[in-house]
Amino acid sequence: MRKYAIYLGILATASLPACLQSTTAAQAADANTADVNGQTDTASGDTSTGPVVWQTNPVNAPTAMHLTWQHDPATTVTVQWTTAATDLKGYTPKAWFDTKANAGADGAKMTFSAAQTATGAGELYYQSLVAGDTTGPQYLTWTVELTGLTPDTDYVLRAGTWSDYKNGAFIQPDLTQEVMTFHTAPKKGTRQPVKVVLAGDSRGGNALITANADRLAAIGAAFWVFNGDFTDMGLQEQWDAWFLAMHPILNGAPLMPVQGNHEVFPPMYYGQFALPVNAGVPDNYTEHAWSMNYANIHVVGLDSTSAAAASDQAAWLDADLTAARADADIDWIVVAMHYPAYSACTNHGSTAWVQKYWVPLFEKHNVDLVFAGHDHNYERTWPWVNNNKAAKGPVYVVAGGFFADGYTNGSDIWTATSTHGNKHNYVVMTVNDKKLDFTAYSGDGATTLDQYSIQK
Ligand SMILES: [Fe+2]
Repeated sequence: MRKYAIYLGILATASLPACLQSTTAAQAADANTADVNGQTDTASGDTSTGPVVWQTNPVNAPTAMHLTWQHDPATTVTVQWTTAATDLKGYTPKAWFDTKANAGADGAKMTFSAAQTATGAGELYYQSLVAGDTTGPQYLTWTVELTGLTPDTDYVLRAGTWSDYKNGAFIQPDLTQEVMTFHTAPKKGTRQPVKVVLAGDSRGGNALITANADRLAAIGAAFWVFNGDFTDMGLQEQWDAWFLAMHPILNGAPLMPVQGNHEVFPPMYYGQFALPVNAGVPDNYTEHAWSMNYANIHVVGLDSTSAAAASDQAAWLDADLTAARADADIDWIVVAMHYPAYSACTNHGSTAWVQKYWVPLFEKHNVDLVFAGHDHNYERTWPWVNNNKAAKGPVYVVAGGFFADGYTNGSDIWTATSTHGNKHNYVVMTVNDKKLDFTAYSGDGATTLDQYSIQK
């Protein structure tokens, strides 16, 4: 059934390059034959096969666009977005990409070919407390993975959800749409400076994110790690507001997340983030636990939200860390989770199940840094092994104040530094060959809360 009129008129023909104006005119004349659900209008007898220009309408306009990695960050990236419409039928998500050198920073000189086009799929997700329950309100995320990219290269992309009613004809994108930018990782094992931002716990602090987002985007991080508690409850309107506030940051850097306890509806969190599917992760923890290699850094994300989750991921974690430490390309291992192993904060404090199931593995494999959130202050431990200060060993950081309301900090035997700061915080980590530096800042960037370095 035809549900929507085609919206070829949205893009003014005069704004298009000459090469596309002719196709727009031809398509406009043909517009009444198109069914936006992807079917050739058999009533008119139209069986032509293109070329076809972009077509969209407000309910299919992409929102909440963001980037993650599912596979090698040197040669792939995944772009995702949502649409108001949750009708999968007849729609195809597509992304067009080009190097920034070719296309320009604004993508104005973007060229198009089949080799520079990627197609993905849409997937419904549900506001439910448990995976697999489809009784709650449904939403839709579109996911496209770009592959075959050149390492250590700036790219631009455009993406959207398209009705390919010409049945396979080449579709060109909306050239008025903002381009997304990203940089592919250097090849695994490359030893050159890499800058990463680690943060977590927004919990509805979107106005402050917005106030700081342009400055934070200008840090120029290769990617972000987000330690959970994005919103207060994880309702879709809260997710939409978070993605909107984060847009300046998300357009430029992939964000690799872990689940917090305020992702009250886990299927909505996992529905909106495509993450690595590592071999050996128990089936019901797919994407809850993940790892990837970026240059000479092995990054691990874990679901720390229950004792059962910690226990169930332990065998995979042990194997993953064993492999990473045996890899001559990897110098650094950084682990991200929501619940802290060690915290002297008076609100939540340390997490017994993280200490029981994972800390022995962090010590066994000499993990360099363990980042957590949950407590909304900043705290760093000494290198901490067997519940004692050590010359070297895992360093645990709590940085849970990405604009959620602040908590009161405390101090304990493991505490090297602890601060309430000005309530909010984030960490910038720089890895350069065998040296790792990180600096914790107040949320407004005005105050340095901590600086720490590790030399291999
Ligand atoms: Fe939390």
